Amino acid sequence: MLILLSDSLVQEKAISSTGTSRLELKTKYSNPNFSMSTSTQPLQDQVAIVTGAGRGIGESVARYFVDAGAKVAVVSRSEANSSKVASALESIRPGSARAYAVDVADFDAVQKVGEQIITDFGRADILVNNAGITRDNLLMRMSSEEWDAVLDTNLKGAFNFVRSILRTMIKQRSGRIINISSVSGLMGLAGQTNYAASKAGMIGLTKALAKEVASRGITVNVVAPGFIETDMTAVLNEEIRKGALSQIPLSRFGQPEEIAATVGFLSGSSASYITGQVIAVDGGMSM
Ligand SMILES: NC(=O)c1ccc[n+]([C@@H]2O[C@H](COP(=O)([O-])OP(=O)(O)OC[C@H]3O[C@@H](n4cnc5c(N)ncnc54)[C@H](OP(=O)(O)O)[C@@H]3O)[C@@H](O)[C@H]2O)c1
Repeated sequence: MLILLSDSLVQEKAISSTGTSRLELKTKYSNPNFSMSTSTQPLQDQVAIVTGAGRGIGESVARYFVDAGAKVAVVSRSEANSSKVASALESIRPGSARAYAVDVADFDAVQKVGEQIITDFGRADILVNNAGITRDNLLMRMSSEEWDAVLDTNLKGAFNFVRSILRTMIKQRSGRIINISSVSGLMGLAGQTNYAASKAGMIGLTKALAKEVASRGITVNVVAPGFIETDMTAVLNEEIRKGALSQIPLSRFGQPEEIAATVGFLSGSSASYITGQVIAVDGGMSM
């Protein structure tokens, strides 16, 4: 018989044939970071920071967190977009969201915003590095500005935000960092050398950081979306869309909510033993 005594302790009242109580075994191996939570608010009172939450995937991730009981720092480049999303979340649950506007590529500005978020919420449990841009071009024609803009936003932006909150997570001895890469970083897509390099770079950053902070109870993982219906893909012409669809075994683009669900899983207690991993959410495109 299973008795759920607390979120982190499942005990079984049966004596094995060797005479060892399964209760003793379960207690010995139970992990305080793990729980089979069935609560409808599995992230209750956790504080999540989501960059690029002013639209698209980031907005869906922020919404997922609020539905799961968390409080969210909604970060985007423009104040108009972060405020719009934070107000919408506040109307779902008052006290659940605050807006911050910053260019994630600006190291000093991000350190200030990170400090402000810790002051406002008192802690930081989850960081989702989602802010990202494309500046597609063939390498032969790519300008140095196009290269720098993409690397500075996508890769350095992730470094900047981790740097701003890692000390807090280390003090807490817990934390979840989820970096949003791309199928382009796994496979390389023509016309995206800058973007693919930035997204592959996020995977390297994730694995190295996961090793640095595992002993502090912090996990670091990557979600690598395929083609998802957002503003980023709305600009693709019909020919490119058709070409992309022909490479996706599930024959459709994904929805932002399908990325949010995977980010939510990695943020929750069910993912307590997963770190340094890349989860592709791409309709099978990269397999
Ligand atoms: N959509 C896809 O098919 C796809 C596929 C693979 C990976 N991804 C990745 O998923 C992430 C989200 O993509 P998305 O499709 O949701 O993009 P999106 O709709 O274009 O939204 C991008 C978000 O990032 C923010 N942002 C951009 N540059 C920023 C900067 N320098 N500082 C702060 N915030 C910045 C934007 O802020 P504002 O709203 O203020 O402009 C916006 O909120 C990106 O990292 C992208 O590379 C997307």
